Amino acid sequence: MMNLKKITEKLIVLILFTLVVAACSNETLVSFSQDVKPILDQNCIRCHQSGGVGQTASGLSMETYADLMKGTRNGPMIIAGDVEGSNLLVLMEGRADPSISMPHDQQKPIAKEDIQTIRLWIDQGAKNN
Ligand code: HEC
Repeated sequence: MMNLKKITEKLIVLILFTLVVAACSNETLVSFSQDVKPILDQNCIRCHQSGGVGQTASGLSMETYADLMKGTRNGPMIIAGDVEGSNLLVLMEGRADPSISMPHDQQKPIAKEDIQTIRLWIDQGAKNN
């Protein structure tokens, strides 16, 4: 005879475990307009808009999503889903030579949680959401 109480207990444990795993892996979806754009507006746009030094030097404008995704005259700086290969993040995280890290001429470096937001957004596909 099967022990129904034991089976029920095991099932409950299994369900709880599944719920915990689901809750942990359910990372919040980053929004371009709500989360990413304000960070760029605060830290980058003064140089990366038409006429700004960054835009003039590299061609990279951050005025719109399309501008940002177009990248510099040499090509895209963001590769959707590829946090290691996205040069925008490479520069923001200081993974490149310090002399070219972004933002330029910034007394206070960009907040770690802001970099994390952009990293997560690229990881989630760099969507125009
Ligand atoms: C004070 C002006 C200034 C600010 C602020 C600034 N940039 Fe730049 N950016 C530049 C200049 C100038 C260049 C041209 C290349 C160089 O001098 O390194 C550039 C180039 C770039 C490039 C292209 C690099 C390449 O390989 O061609 C990226 C990507 C970039 N910036 C990202 C950012 C990000 C992200 C921010 C905000 C976190 C930012 N920049 C803030 C001035 C700025």
